[in-house]
Formats: sequence, C-alpha cells, structure tokens
Amino acid sequence: MTTSTKIAIISDIHIGAHARCADLNPHSTESHVANNFIDKFLEFIKGEAITADYLVVSGDISTKCMRQEFLHAEKVILEIADGLCVKQDRVFFVPGNHDVDWDVLNLRRQEKSPEDISDLRIKQRYDPIKFVDFFRSRNSASELNGLFEDPYIASWDLDDVCFIGYNSAWHDEPEQVNHPGLVDPQHLNALTDLLKGKSLDEKVKIFITHHHLIPQDEPDFKTDFSVMQNVEGLLDILDKYRFDVVIHGHKHYPRMKPYDHGRSNHRMVVIAAGSFSAALGTHLDYTANMFHLLTTEGRHAVDRTIQGKLNSWAYSEARGWYTNKEEIGVNPCEPFGYYNSLPILYKEVVDRINNAFTTSDNIKWSKLLEYNSDLQYVGSRIMKALCEKIEEDGICEVHSTNDGFIFLKREDANV
Ligand SMILES: [Fe+2]
Repeated sequence: MTTSTKIAIISDIHIGAHARCADLNPHSTESHVANNFIDKFLEFIKGEAITADYLVVSGDISTKCMRQEFLHAEKVILEIADGLCVKQDRVFFVPGNHDVDWDVLNLRRQEKSPEDISDLRIKQRYDPIKFVDFFRSRNSASELNGLFEDPYIASWDLDDVCFIGYNSAWHDEPEQVNHPGLVDPQHLNALTDLLKGKSLDEKVKIFITHHHLIPQDEPDFKTDFSVMQNVEGLLDILDKYRFDVVIHGHKHYPRMKPYDHGRSNHRMVVIAAGSFSAALGTHLDYTANMFHLLTTEGRHAVDRTIQGKLNSWAYSEARGWYTNKEEIGVNPCEPFGYYNSLPILYKEVVDRINNAFTTSDNIKWSKLLEYNSDLQYVGSRIMKALCEKIEEDGICEVHSTNDGFIFLKREDANV
C-alpha cells in the first residue's frame, strides 16, 4: 500500500566559485553577493512549514571538485536536511561532471611514465568527495559498489521507496567536449541484475542521475549538446521495471514532464531540478534558482501509475524565496498521474458540466473532483488544452480561481 511520501530536491549547488552567494563559497567572498543564502532558505522553509521524508541532491555538488568544497557542501546539505526534518541517512546524492577531479586526471599527461600510474590517477579522480564523511557514509550505505567505482550505481532500498543512483559522469575528464552523460552497457547489465533480484512492487521507485536522459532545449541555446549518450538501453530498463520518477540536474533550467518510452504505456515523471544555488548568469533572464518538493500520494487504482504533485519555489535577490511562475520552467504546483487522452477527459468533464447546468449556472473544478478524485492529477498542459477546447467549442466560459477553475454557463446559453 503506497502512502504519501515527500521528497525534497536540490541540485547543482556548485559550492565554490560558481555558487551565487558568499556563504556557499569556502574560498573567497570577493566575487559573490554577500548574502546569507542558506539562512534565508532555512527561514523560508520554516515559515512555510515545509518538511520532507527524504532529500535528493542530483549532482554538481562542487565547482572544482576540491575537498574544501565538499567539506563545505557536507555542512550545507546537512543544515538543509535538518531544516527539512530529514535524517542524514535519508539523504541521497549522485555526483555530477563538476565533481570529477580534473587536476589529478591532467597529471597523467605531465608524468614521465603515464601508463604506469594512469589507473591510479583515474581511481583518484573521486578522492576529494569520497573521503568526506557524509558522502563516504551515504555512498557506502549502497548495496552495490557505489557511485565511485564500476558500475557506478548506488542502490538504497528502503521500506517505502527504492532509490537508485547512477553516476552519469563516470567517464568525464578535461578533454571531454561538452561533458555529456554516458551510459556503459556493462553498467546496464549490473543494473538489470540488481533489479531482477528485488521485490519492488508498490514501492516508489526513484532513479537519480546528474545528466538528462531526454533532450532538453533551453530558451537561449539552439542545440542540446550534453544529453546522456547511449541512453536507450537505460530507458528500456527504467520502463521495464516501472520506475516512477527520474530526478536529474545538469541543466540549470527546470522542467517536469511525464515520459512514456512506448514499451508498455508506462509513464515516468522526469524532473529536471535546475540549480538550487549556482550563479545563473544569463540564465537569470528566464529562470531562477529552484527548490522542489515531490509528494507522492498513491497509485492509480487500475494501472498503478504513481500520483502526486511537484511543488516548486524560486529565489531572486530582490524577492528571496517565492512561489515560482510558469515562465521559469515549472509550475508552482504540477500534478501528475492522470494520463487519459484529452478526448476522454473532455467527454467526462463536459458531461459533468452539462449535467450541473441543468440546476446551476456554474460548477467548480473542485466539485468535479468529488465525482472522480483522479482528476486532481491532471497535468497543467492537458488542463490548459481542456479549458481552451471547452471555450472554443462554446460549451461554457472557463475562469481560473485561487483553488482551480470555475465553469460558467454562457449568458446566451438559454437564448
Ligand atoms: Fe551544474
């Protein structure tokens, strides 16, 4: 039986030079806004009474993969977890391409006998993160080798949720062009072996990785160069084992979409978390730093699809943390879990509206939920399409309200 589960999500915190505020940079404060970013965040979640069961950090924890940055990240992540009432053993992370030590990899080319120590340098590329207590203990809590050794998979299988982490930057090095994610077929074999032996059934199944699995354009970029490569096999596995949610970072522009890989009409909710605390530069024109809370509320009675909502908040210097706007990538509250086609939804809603209009001149969306509670999980895009079609077809007027929509009988309806 699935119960409500709340998963807080932060990504791309970029502790160090790329972070947006001085309290996120352990090196120097000169180029940063002297702002108490974390204190403001803790104050915000306390004021909003936001708590969670789990906290996910989906990579690019540091800027330059320095031990000092990970020590600072450890402190920041644990402060955030504490503020959300999440215990340390309920925090899960994956590394990103910024969490690979390029300096040690560059040493390979400077050494006289690089072939002798090349393997050593490759092994050392995660030393700055993997020897910091928090990251070491969370990684070693995994069933497999963890995120820093082949097959770069971590599995944290709990009573109600199974988190699988994959280090999509395992291959990253300074010479990489565009630093995309990469899937190795051998890693997929290990993932399949792992999942075959599990009884996941009704558990919420969450896949965490850094790079995006499906292409994601951004408003000012014409081409997406860094999408995960060789990803078809991974998507097949996630689809086969009916993963409910994919959480990733890398793109600093947030998104949330249900994804159907076409194998069994199963939908995964794919969450591009954006960046919690990186300095966004030109991105500031169209997005903001983001914090998300994923709430799963149960499953569809028939197809067992996960149902719930994603709440998102944004940050700006002028406003502090605030409920975000749609224009910056994700809605303030995006429901998921209703996947009937628009014609089926349209017929059900219009039948209810017409029935209501026999005794009243309006009906609220909230009233329709009393007839079919699954309607609360209709996503914003299909909801928008539904309202547009109802008005285009002259069924009634549709107005948005603080708690949803209201359908009003047209003034000329009885003429
Ligand atoms: Fe990043």
